[in-house]
Amino acid sequence: MASVTSLSDSVQQQLASALSATRPEAAGADPLLRRSDRADFQANGILALAKKVKANPRELAAEVVAHVATGDVIKDVEVSGPGFLNLTIADRAITENLAARYADDTGRLGVPLAEHPGTTVIDYAQPNVAKEMHVGHLRSAVIGDSVVQLLEFTGENVIRRHHIGDWGTQFGMLIQYLDEHPHELDHKDAEVTGEEAMSNLDRLYKAARKLFDSDEEFKTRARRRVVDLQAGDPDTLAMWQRFVDESKIYFFSVFEKLDMEIRDADIVGESGYNDMLAETCRLLEESGVAVRSEGALCVFFDDVKGPDGKPVPLIVQKSDGGFGYAATDLSAIRDRVFNLKADTLLYVVDARQALHFKMVFETARRAGWLNDDVHASQLAFGTVLGKDGKPFKTRAGETVRLVDLLDEAIERASAVVREKAQDLSEEEIAERGAQVGIGAVKYADLSTSANRDYKFDLDQMVSLNGDTSVYLQYAYARINSILRKAPEGVRPAAHPELDLHEAERALGLHVDAFAEAVAEAAREYAPHKLTAYLYQLASLYTSFYDKCPVLKAESPQQVENRLFLCDVTARTLHRGMALLGIRTPERL
Ligand code: ARG
Repeated sequence: MASVTSLSDSVQQQLASALSATRPEAAGADPLLRRSDRADFQANGILALAKKVKANPRELAAEVVAHVATGDVIKDVEVSGPGFLNLTIADRAITENLAARYADDTGRLGVPLAEHPGTTVIDYAQPNVAKEMHVGHLRSAVIGDSVVQLLEFTGENVIRRHHIGDWGTQFGMLIQYLDEHPHELDHKDAEVTGEEAMSNLDRLYKAARKLFDSDEEFKTRARRRVVDLQAGDPDTLAMWQRFVDESKIYFFSVFEKLDMEIRDADIVGESGYNDMLAETCRLLEESGVAVRSEGALCVFFDDVKGPDGKPVPLIVQKSDGGFGYAATDLSAIRDRVFNLKADTLLYVVDARQALHFKMVFETARRAGWLNDDVHASQLAFGTVLGKDGKPFKTRAGETVRLVDLLDEAIERASAVVREKAQDLSEEEIAERGAQVGIGAVKYADLSTSANRDYKFDLDQMVSLNGDTSVYLQYAYARINSILRKAPEGVRPAAHPELDLHEAERALGLHVDAFAEAVAEAAREYAPHKLTAYLYQLASLYTSFYDKCPVLKAESPQQVENRLFLCDVTARTLHRGMALLGIRTPERL
């Protein structure tokens, strides 16, 4: 594995040794290096250091400069302002670094793996059985999928868990209805589509509900069914399984439309923890973490109070003996920590469930299941809003079906592709339309920080200008078209001896910083940091392309070197977009 030290890491290392060579007290000080408009990099750390060692910052900076070895990497270093260091990188070093990345045949562009990878269980993409998927499920799936890709790219061992809602009292009603109307879930054909499956479930759900609300005797029978289900009665379980299977047909069709791989083995819904619930309660009660209060098993918190000032407990077991959402989540924690051996638990769930997770995590800490070595956190996401800034609803005030949204996005994107299409067949337009439309939806979701609400605005999402996936996809396709246009025998090749244009330097330094962008996005579970990096990459490419002729460059070497810059940029775009779950078609 050919991992490449980025230029900023090399500079950082050289500054660190210059600092300790200057003064012993300066050893270990952070030079605070960043990209800068004035020079390639600026180091601001000397200001704080000067304060600490009571030195004049400009004088201290000058002393450090005297200890920086200029040469292969750092071409020039000078003191600026109150005591900053401005650093210029040698052109040759930029080209050589990119050439090393380009030569990495693992497709990782020289990005190193994390030194100490751990095991993360990530809980995401968790729709509910027998229910339609809505935009909230979109966010969990899209953000979760990207975080999975990011973490795996750093070398983390990632275990995916889709905690689907497949358990609860509503199943008594559904099963009883199916029992009394046995052919309601039958299929006409062997091949059943996701849409058909959902419409079957929807019809059955509505009919069952109607009967439940109007017929007291049915209600009683339905309630008895819940008890049968929880007791594990085989016939009841078999019928429950039919609902789960039918729903999965639907889920998989939506995930496929989302161009996302969800594996059946990773779907472990609420029902999967059923056998652990009683034990979880026993452990909590015996350790005194949970106490009986009016028959229910509860956990209390000093800082969680209702509007009346009374403490609001986390209810682990209801007074009628039933277990709820919290008991399931607490059992899932035990499974993930003790069986799956996770050291990090991550939950990609709507911010509106923040209180639930806060209480669940605190309970698990008190029980000793979470501690300094095993952490849990919620990657909480905000609400999807309509253009009017209110939670996204149809005109009739109903929640918007996720499939309808995705279909509309694909349709809009296909129109954009068709308008720009030059040599694409109808089939290609349909394929690209889906890649652009789904990419647009994902990118819009990922490019704002997850905890914020965002407006679902298709016009903006498929716009060719601005911070959209289509803009990035076009940049990628344009680069590929240049590469295709290179004359026979002219291949991308690095020529480190060439001087670089300002625009080439800016682009090259940014390409070289890919590893840091990915590491930061992965460490902070923040795909939006990667989208920002990629958007800037495409912008820097555009200005390079405006200023530096590629195929008509001055010398054959320069043509090859610029083709090489184009290609390494394209590979970085492609890699980065893949980490967001977005395709980059070769032609658009
Ligand atoms: N099914 C839930 C919903 O649709 C989300 C589940 C979140 N995960 C969890 N472990 N509680 O709201």
